[in-house]
Amino acid sequence: MKKVLIIGGTGMVASRFVDLAKDKLEIVSVDEKTLDIIDNTAVEKYFTKNKFDAVINFAAFTNVDAAEKETGDETGLTYRLNVLGPKNLAEYCNDNNTFLVHISTDFVFPGTEEEPGPYDEDARLPETPVGIGWYGWTKNRAELMIQNTSTNYAIVRYGYPFRAAPFDLKKDWARNLINLYNEQKLYPMFTDQVQSVLFVDDLVEPLVKIINEEISGIFHVASSDMTTPHEIGLYLLGKYTGKPVELQKGSMGEFLKAPGRTPRPRLGGLKTLKTQNILNLKFKTWRAMVDEFVSQLNT
Ligand SMILES: NC(=O)c1ccc[n+]([C@@H]2O[C@H](COP(=O)([O-])OP(=O)(O)OC[C@H]3O[C@@H](n4cnc5c(N)ncnc54)[C@H](OP(=O)(O)O)[C@@H]3O)[C@@H](O)[C@H]2O)c1
Repeated sequence: MKKVLIIGGTGMVASRFVDLAKDKLEIVSVDEKTLDIIDNTAVEKYFTKNKFDAVINFAAFTNVDAAEKETGDETGLTYRLNVLGPKNLAEYCNDNNTFLVHISTDFVFPGTEEEPGPYDEDARLPETPVGIGWYGWTKNRAELMIQNTSTNYAIVRYGYPFRAAPFDLKKDWARNLINLYNEQKLYPMFTDQVQSVLFVDDLVEPLVKIINEEISGIFHVASSDMTTPHEIGLYLLGKYTGKPVELQKGSMGEFLKAPGRTPRPRLGGLKTLKTQNILNLKFKTWRAMVDEFVSQLNT
């Protein structure tokens, strides 16, 4: 069994991955207190004592609106955690022949009319931050840095992850949707946003395969098809309540025009065909992911 270090293991996506992959990989999961990846000395010290076949970096500053307040500030936490932390890991892994899996996002792309998605694995990584928020830009710079630093690495992108297993620290979009619906506080759902989603449990098989076979490259692990927040909201709440629901319609294009909005991909989404072919796996549609989510909520 491969011995794998999970960084950011207490996070929303990683904690579920750890639960489901622990009989497939020998996992050591750390949080910030055990290993602060921003601190290069701490990283060197940790790896002097502990050796791994692979490292998966889930750690990131993920609050997109809070990150936006640090735009342009390379001394801010967002840049340090999302770029300098991965740099420390990439340098260590490269020098010690350790396979690095870096978790990334569709927010590295602008998703604008000018440069619309859905993007495939070989899509050109934007070289300017036009249309991209600070969170996405720092994740973009980390990808570039890893590609320039590392030889034995995988970058795994996904967007809009959701999980059925309870997680109290942070609500994903699906949990938010259900809560707001139950509280009758649901806002209009966008009909003009293109997105792919990921049921977190479906990350396990691809990621374990990438690690076990040390397959290098850029991978998209996501639903095999695209949806909109309105479409998936209708479907999810219909399944969850067992009856057809009605949702107000909204426009992300209009929403983003208001002053002070954080840029987010409107025409986003990740194509997965290349990843499915390389890994010889068939990814679920977003409907099948939602079906599994609701079925787990009901058991
Ligand atoms: N959530 C999304 O919608 C989404 C979408 C696409 C991609 N992603 C990517 O998926 C990954 C996981 O996202 P998530 O939302 O599950 O994360 P999350 O819940 O925000 O968790 C972040 C993790 O990073 C750790 N961390 C913070 N500062 C650290 C440091 N200095 N050194 C080491 N670890 C540190 C945290 O540990 P402590 O709790 O100890 O601070 C926590 O375990 C990220 O790379 C993110 O960019 C997320």
